[in-house]
Amino acid sequence: MTTRTKLIAGNWKMNGLKADLAEISGMCARLATLKNSPVETLICPPALLVAEAAGLASLSKLQIGGQDCHMQVKGAHTGDVSAAMLKDAGASHVILGHSERRADHGETDAMVCAKAKAAKAAGLTAIICVGETQNERAQGREYAVVGAQLAGSLSQASQAGDTIIAYEPVWAIGTGLTPSLEDVAQMHNFIRNELARAMGEESQGVRILYGGSVKPGNAESLMSVANVDGALVGGASLKCDDFMAIVEALKL
Ligand code: 13P
Repeated sequence: MTTRTKLIAGNWKMNGLKADLAEISGMCARLATLKNSPVETLICPPALLVAEAAGLASLSKLQIGGQDCHMQVKGAHTGDVSAAMLKDAGASHVILGHSERRADHGETDAMVCAKAKAAKAAGLTAIICVGETQNERAQGREYAVVGAQLAGSLSQASQAGDTIIAYEPVWAIGTGLTPSLEDVAQMHNFIRNELARAMGEESQGVRILYGGSVKPGNAESLMSVANVDGALVGGASLKCDDFMAIVEALKL
């Protein structure tokens, strides 16, 4: 059986000024005191903070990632950030196709797929986000929606070493609501099966994160669900104490 190291990833979204890098320094220091923690950690701050955050975290167990990248290698794309720029700044991962980018910037599965290829070419691990809206769940379409997002966003070249899936039900993001543990188990099992169909044996190594209102108080139960290989945390990743409480909940 493949063992997948759990990953607790933080998505700072459009939050964080230079002063907030102290939280990252705090996380690095706290992680150094955790002996034999079986958990990998990652923080994805806003693009402007990636280089400094990566510098602060360089000798620590904390990895630093971006929140999006352009699908092209370089060129006339004012305001955009390429995968190579993130890599150059010290990022190891990049979040792609977050529901906020799909909603705010009209990102399609095809665009996410192209970005995943760009991320791989630059040597970044892509965290590809999928998840249904409240309406879609009410209509019983959550599996169809997530299945289509996966099929459209994964590239032929996607491999376990460069691809992570994050299941983030849109209605659970920033709302304090979470699906039942049974619903999480069923969706993660569905995603695992879809990955197997798309990637074969290779899929066993792909981690599937859960995201949406993960907090210190619910992390342990969510992370103990089969096929939940970690978390993508928004609000509770902004503060060292909250983020570390989630990491420490998994230390057992
Ligand atoms: P919250 O943890 O704030 O609900 O955000 C989840 C999320 O969108 C992470 O990408």
